[in-house]
Amino acid sequence: MIVSSDRVLSNRPFNDAPIGIFDSGFGGLTVAREIAKELPEESIVYFGDTARCPYGPRSQDEVDGFVQQICTWLVGRDVKLLVIACNTATAAGLEHAQQRFSIPVIGAVIPGARAAARATKNRRVGVIATKGTVESGCYPQAIRNIDAGITVFSTATPKFVDIVEQGIRMSRGPIEDLTSLASKVYIRPAFQEIARDYLEPLRRCEIDTLVLGCTHYPMLKALIGGVIGHNVLLVSSAEEMAKEVRETLSMRGELAHEGNIAKHEFFTSAPNLDEFQSFGSRVFSGPISIFLAYNLKADIASAFSVCMRACPLDRRKPCLLIGQTIATIARCAT
Ligand code: DGL
Repeated sequence: MIVSSDRVLSNRPFNDAPIGIFDSGFGGLTVAREIAKELPEESIVYFGDTARCPYGPRSQDEVDGFVQQICTWLVGRDVKLLVIACNTATAAGLEHAQQRFSIPVIGAVIPGARAAARATKNRRVGVIATKGTVESGCYPQAIRNIDAGITVFSTATPKFVDIVEQGIRMSRGPIEDLTSLASKVYIRPAFQEIARDYLEPLRRCEIDTLVLGCTHYPMLKALIGGVIGHNVLLVSSAEEMAKEVRETLSMRGELAHEGNIAKHEFFTSAPNLDEFQSFGSRVFSGPISIFLAYNLKADIASAFSVCMRACPLDRRKPCLLIGQTIATIARCAT
């Protein structure tokens, strides 16, 4: 069955419709952030499925079910393009979603594979990802489809997801402390040990490029880069995905119109909204101001939502117009 978005009920011109993005939790925010940077006039609806995170250890069928459910919910919010900002979900459900929905669906694997294949000089590429992604074999296949002469070494590094989901809650500093290779941020010895166990075998394989095949991992660049060595290039698919979104919309003539005031809405199934809210605001430090939460009457079990809105007067400045926020809630709470 092809599911299409209901463009008739919305008064908004189709080009100004939001981009729908989702992940199993916080990780996809690294992608949403790049999309917001690359396409500041595009509105975004983000869903982080924190209540069911991690996806990595689950079966492909179960994750595929989540993918179809969340995509259906996003399409119901009139999005014009879907971004699966989760490698595990891409491996399990991208093809099915592309067959099912009438709007473009962009996944995480091909953009990262393409960037790695272009970057490697010695044609030895490492991939770290969740168990689900590694077992699907999607990265070696995608990289070798581009250059069959590349040798790919993949390792499942599931504890990195926990480190991000938990570590991020404990840390206070700017997000750049975690995502920057040059960062001098304090890293717990226990985390260093886990990283050494995972990455030492890859170091011995003499890779020159390492794909961060999970959208959570760019938040561990400081940790991963420190252990694997700064001579290994870290490739994250977030920037590549943002470029792919731009190219796809541009080719289809579906970029938001010039001067469109972007609206960023974030929804989560997380039981603790404050946490999601404070982390989300750190990732989106500049343009996002107010967060409010309310029960979401969707078919996603016990889902809640967090709504963030850019200032209608100046997208770069915090917005403290409560009235505007209430209007936003009214619009979201349908
Ligand atoms: N962010 C997800 C990915 O890119 C992984 C996290 C999880 O296991 O849910 O694969």
